[in-house]
Amino acid sequence: MGAPGRYSATCVASPNIALVKYWGQRIPEYNVPYNSSLSLTLAGLSTRTRVTFDPDLPADTLELNGTAVEGGPRDDVRRFLDLFRERAGRRWSARVVSRNNFPTASGMASSASGFAALAGAAMAALRLRGGLRILSRYARRGSGSATRSIYGGFVYWRAGRHWDGDDSYAVPFRGPEHWPAFRDIACLVAGAPVKSIRSQEAMQRSVATSPVYGRRQKELRRRLRRMQAAIILRDPDRLFPVVMEECDSFREVCETTDPPLDYLTPSSRAILDEVRSINDEAGRYLAAYTHDAGAHVHVFTTAPYARSIARRLGALRGVTETRILRPGPGVRWIPRAGSEDPAVELRVG
Ligand code: PMV
Repeated sequence: MGAPGRYSATCVASPNIALVKYWGQRIPEYNVPYNSSLSLTLAGLSTRTRVTFDPDLPADTLELNGTAVEGGPRDDVRRFLDLFRERAGRRWSARVVSRNNFPTASGMASSASGFAALAGAAMAALRLRGGLRILSRYARRGSGSATRSIYGGFVYWRAGRHWDGDDSYAVPFRGPEHWPAFRDIACLVAGAPVKSIRSQEAMQRSVATSPVYGRRQKELRRRLRRMQAAIILRDPDRLFPVVMEECDSFREVCETTDPPLDYLTPSSRAILDEVRSINDEAGRYLAAYTHDAGAHVHVFTTAPYARSIARRLGALRGVTETRILRPGPGVRWIPRAGSEDPAVELRVG
């Protein structure tokens, strides 16, 4: 091997919150979804990951937030890195050092930013050719939602139709600069239960057992189009009711899964009620709630209302923190200090 560190790169990615949810896999092995989805990448939160491939290393190592990780998560990372090693024709083990600037248990999907940053770092470190579309496809193999964190702002993940999922990747819909006044109030609730099963498994149970899953799938295309039109117009009155309708539909599928998937706590439900009251009192849509497979709730609004709504939601019993977040950027690479090595720059296309 050449100089140490030559096969090394650092990539940063932010989490995203889904407006149209990915829930159900057409090809489980590759995390290829049944339906297309739409998300917003969030500013201010990020995962920074450095990957160093080293032929002298006996096995892959993973350090997460300063702690060495063994077992399941490290095996997930090893299997994920195998995709890149295979493509590069290298058998080198890797040292992975990853850090979130937000608490892992904060209800932000760290798997989305985690696998997006890991994919970006691995691809750049091994100098694999390809642009962001290929990177998005790689990220999907780690965690479905990671496929969308490659891009900033509003992002569309097309489900694709190919038998092998090759055409299932994200594309930018509108960048973070499109709607600068858009805000996401991340509401963290106390006592959020630790997930007993992974979302990949949970969603397949919904596909198999929820009697409303098929109906939801039929509604999604129209909902997606309505959301896209509202985003183009930057129109909360059009966007927010559809966001809540979609969240309610996702929750209905979860609750009618056998056995039921109940992700919310009484505090999460109080947030949903409070958002309904805020809109009722205003006589228009000032805010919209949404949540993923977890108890924390995201409340969309626009800049003029963000602080007062955050205060109101923060006063609810069991809400431990509210964070006002803006539309954020896609993946970015950190050049090595003092290095002219272009290896860290992925050719974007
Ligand atoms: O990326 P995963 O496997 O953790 O699945 C995420 C599923 C949801 O967050 C519930 C919806 C979504 O589209 O992000």
